[in-house]
Amino acid sequence: MEHRTDSFCANPVMRTQWYVVADATDVSDAPLGVTLLGERFVLWRGSNGDVAAAPDRCPHREAPLSEGRVADGCLVCPYHAWTFDGDGACVAVPSSGPGAPIPSAANLALAAVRERYGLVWLCPGTPAGEPPEIPQDRDPSFRRVTAGIETWHVSATRMVDNFCDVAHFPYVHAGTIGPDTDPVVAAVHVEALDADFTGYQYTVDVHDELGNDVRQRMSTAFHLPFVVRSNTQYESGPRTGHDRVLLLCATPVDDVTSLFTFVSWRNHDHDLSTDEFLAFDRAIGAEDQVMLERIAGVLPLDQSATVSVRADRLSVEWRRQFAALLAC
Ligand code: FES
Ligand SMILES: [Fe+2]
Repeated sequence: MEHRTDSFCANPVMRTQWYVVADATDVSDAPLGVTLLGERFVLWRGSNGDVAAAPDRCPHREAPLSEGRVADGCLVCPYHAWTFDGDGACVAVPSSGPGAPIPSAANLALAAVRERYGLVWLCPGTPAGEPPEIPQDRDPSFRRVTAGIETWHVSATRMVDNFCDVAHFPYVHAGTIGPDTDPVVAAVHVEALDADFTGYQYTVDVHDELGNDVRQRMSTAFHLPFVVRSNTQYESGPRTGHDRVLLLCATPVDDVTSLFTFVSWRNHDHDLSTDEFLAFDRAIGAEDQVMLERIAGVLPLDQSATVSVRADRLSVEWRRQFAALLAC
């Protein structure tokens, strides 16, 4: 059988998008190296506390800056200790002695960074927009918890396809959401739900982690390229009237390796520990990871290469828009 590859990482338009590369707490008093779209970057906090990002390659002899250290908000190369401030300016070349001129080519070219929702987002090129807006993040009645970064051996394209898919719930999530979930997926209407997300709304009866049968009003929606948001409003059960938001983020390390993280907001469960707060969604993520890591390669972007049915409407629309983005 023909094995298709649909490399997307090398497409220049991918460099105009935002990706989650770290949990904000991962960038503290040491440099952090990350790989995005096959390219290495170094992250550190400048003297004002803001995260800076640059290619992980010293302009002097290309040593990995992520192996160096941070001193007073400056990144210090491990090889000859050239030193760079939070704006990327080279401020010290020890071998030249104090006061000697520093060539302007010694400055680092910073990549665009945003710290949002407890996550560090990086855009390697000129940003085409901003990371997606989550209004609940500004609402003090919501508690926000980040899950930490994992590496999955699966293409980001397959992850988003999975995050848009509910038809696998009774099978892949038999151990969490439960095997009794109705396998029939209702016809859905996919539309722009707001300025940042395309998806659909639906009502579902589920068995929650507390053992209750609960009616939930939900929406599942994507933001190009690799972010999916799931909103839940409880319409029955002990959490009636409460809301939660789950932001699922996939980041292509390369075409077939990805970072996974999620952020959870709830206007309830304020008394839980962070582990308790995350436990159910973590378990769901682990079930998806096991399934997805069995599937090799990139999701074919040619829709005719795989068979889709009614329940796949959202993932088909994501794939259509993603393919259109790549064709820009
Ligand atoms: S390689 Fe970085 S200072 Fe020489
Ligand atoms: Fe899943």
